Amino acid sequence: MADNNNVILKMENITKTFPGVVALNNVSIDLKKGEVLGILGENGAGKSTLIKVLAGNYIKDSGKITIDGNETEFKNPGEAMESGIRVIYQELNTLENLSVTENIFLGEQETKTPLNIIDWKKMEKESRKILKQLNIDINPNTIMEDLSVSEKQVVEIAKAISKKGKILIMDEPTAALSEEDKDSLFEIIKTLKEAGVSIIYISHRLKEIFEITDRVTVLRDGKKIGTVGTSETDSNQLVTMMVGRDIQEMYPKREVPIGEVIMSVKNLVAEGIEDVSFELRKGEILGIFGLLGSGKTSLVKSLFGANPIKSGKIYVYGKKITIKKPWQARDNKIGLVPVDRKLDGLALMLGVKENITLANIQQLGKGFLIKKAVEREKAQRWIDNLDINTPSMNQEVNSLSGGNQQKVVLARWLESGSNIIILNEPTRGIDVGTKVEIYKLMQNLCEQGAGIIMISSELPEILSIADRILVISKGRITGEFKRGKASEEKLMQTACI
Ligand SMILES: Nc1ncnc2c1ncn2[C@@H]1O[C@H](COP(=O)(O)OP(=O)(O)OP(=O)(O)O)[C@@H](O)[C@H]1O
Ligand SMILES: [Mg+2]
Repeated sequence: MADNNNVILKMENITKTFPGVVALNNVSIDLKKGEVLGILGENGAGKSTLIKVLAGNYIKDSGKITIDGNETEFKNPGEAMESGIRVIYQELNTLENLSVTENIFLGEQETKTPLNIIDWKKMEKESRKILKQLNIDINPNTIMEDLSVSEKQVVEIAKAISKKGKILIMDEPTAALSEEDKDSLFEIIKTLKEAGVSIIYISHRLKEIFEITDRVTVLRDGKKIGTVGTSETDSNQLVTMMVGRDIQEMYPKREVPIGEVIMSVKNLVAEGIEDVSFELRKGEILGIFGLLGSGKTSLVKSLFGANPIKSGKIYVYGKKITIKKPWQARDNKIGLVPVDRKLDGLALMLGVKENITLANIQQLGKGFLIKKAVEREKAQRWIDNLDINTPSMNQEVNSLSGGNQQKVVLARWLESGSNIIILNEPTRGIDVGTKVEIYKLMQNLCEQGAGIIMISSELPEILSIADRILVISKGRITGEFKRGKASEEKLMQTACI
């Protein structure tokens, strides 16, 4: 029976616990036909758990789920899929050895004849069409592992929209996307909405919440704080609902004295990099901005020995260095926080403690017991400093919320004592309160003599936090701005050159 209010989904009094954690405590939401409902909350608030309960990844402890007036409980994601629920998960779920087309049509291959011969040509054509809609130039025959993180994310999105569903759930779909790709995604969301699809949209980016949602539900510590109409609220109210207090300053910027050049890159050429030169100074936060495919990730990889350098020179403290392997970067006190924590960041099956101290095991001192004690002490310090939400330091990183996993990656590199720190999208998936803490930490490190290279596609962040911004496009630097001299428009313009 259709509901008068056009409510297509009701989740009532949902409770879900994990050992030592109440992830959801009596949470209720409803979703109307053709609306976008935002879900906001700090890291670990329960957002992903809520949608995983809906999509059959987790079985709830108690509560009731009704879709189109019928009580439902999906026992696995396949059942949810059959009922028209599409999910873009926060952690990428692509199969690395298969092609883009295979990933998009996984599990629901188009068939041509009654003989069940898979019509790859048709699927390939269909993939091309969807990718074009998303405004992205990826060959559907590419094997997933050859794509960048952002491209993989676009494939995830393509996968979710390739077959029409009635409820589309997006858990941080734009975390790895640039502003431009986000715009294409939002166009698609609008079209789907008009076609009557209901959407649950999770994001830490308030700007997006205001741009695309009709209503917002806020969770905190597994509880629902409230639901408000997007046009009737503002970011102050939402932040207060999320963190339970006011945040005075979203981008606390301290003036740190900028010293001598500590790293200098001259005419670097590598895959994806044409001819890049720049300097990084002590105490400086150097922002790097570029669109998808601009070469910013290739640049980072070259500086860290993961993308072979064809020509050019790198100097650290005036000394020419060779970086062919990541350990050489590490030996030169260059630390990297990678963009994809799943692939190169974390040992997911190990505990929080091991992950934080992994890179620095040699520095822990002599003797097994001393090592263990030092390890515990260091891990605890970072858990406190970054407010890592975990039942214990021995918890498998796997089971932490997305944002808390990112904090663990950060902790490891902050702990490693590097002087040149490269942060690739450091606050991706991190909630507003913790972002502020991370910005403060970055500035502490600068005060202690480090220099930071921060790659970020969040415009307000890079504009406020970086002392200087380099814009990169097609493997070259196309613009340089001092803090205060750039604007969103200027950055976007130079990024499109
Ligand atoms: N499989 C699991 N095993 C144990 N604990 C879990 C598991 N999944 C989630 N949790 C815990 O449940 C709580 C809620 O996590 P959830 O992933 O829903 O947070 P979130 O709101 O999505 O956060 P984020 O913004 O960081 O993605 C966290 O404390 C998390 O550690
Ligand atoms: Mg999450």
